Amino acid sequence: MSQDCQELIAIRKLKNTAERYGIVSQAFHWLIVVLIIVQYQMGRIAEDLPLGFDKLVLMSRHKSLGMTILGLALLRLLWRLANKSPGSPPGLHRALQGLGRTTHVALYGLLLALPITGWLASSYANSPVSWWGWFTVPDLVMPDKENFERLSELHQLLTRFLIVVVTLHAAAALVHHFYFKDDVLRRMLPGWPGLRK
Ligand code: HEM
Ligand code: HEM
Repeated sequence: MSQDCQELIAIRKLKNTAERYGIVSQAFHWLIVVLIIVQYQMGRIAEDLPLGFDKLVLMSRHKSLGMTILGLALLRLLWRLANKSPGSPPGLHRALQGLGRTTHVALYGLLLALPITGWLASSYANSPVSWWGWFTVPDLVMPDKENFERLSELHQLLTRFLIVVVTLHAAAALVHHFYFKDDVLRRMLPGWPGLRK
């Protein structure tokens, strides 16, 4: 096979096709999944700690990682806009297609809304967000105790919503794989597993 041909295949693997997600979409998906799990746990643990040094350090890491997730989510969305996702598997009921699309929109919404409400809560609390100690992210609003409490409640509520939507989403992926026996899960898995015919 010529070198040009090999390069063309490598580039095609990076991008989505009508049949499967490309390497870039897969990498964004699974990297963000891992970071969200760590981020969620950090938030819950920090929240339960008594006021003190440990809580401060953990919360500061939570904020840095949250801003990292926001950056990755924005890059992912840009990539998504430039790269059409594979369509629904053939024969899937229209209601299920709609449910799938709605879940994906909700997940993208949460990937933006969670960090933004956290960032707003921190600004209202007059507790600036440092990105891994490298630089301080500008505050979005002036300090305000009441608004801090509102935003903090909203941030918590969104984390509960995230659990519900992710559970539904992961369950759907497993149902596709084991019950419908289609390619929906396989095409999001790295390593280019052979698709079912
Ligand atoms: C995807 C991103 C994020 C997730 C999944 C997440 C998750 C969480 C969780 C699970 C909690 C504990 C809530 C509880 O159960 O009590 C929490 C608290 C908190 N998070 Fe986040 N977070 C994210 C991003 C951020 C960002 C970017 C910031 C700030 C820049 C932030 C600031 C906070 C603050 C200040 C609290 C404590 C709120 C309070 O005092 O009640 N979070 N977060
Ligand atoms: C924090 C957790 C997760 C988030 C935020 C998330 C987010 C997303 C988003 C936004 C998409 C749509 C991609 C696009 O077309 O642009 C997607 C697709 C997908 N996700 Fe997740 N996901 C999560 C966890 C999981 C888990 C645990 C699984 C597997 C059990 C999974 C399996 C899939 C599959 C198979 C697709 C492709 C669906 C299709 O082609 O219709 N995801 N995910």
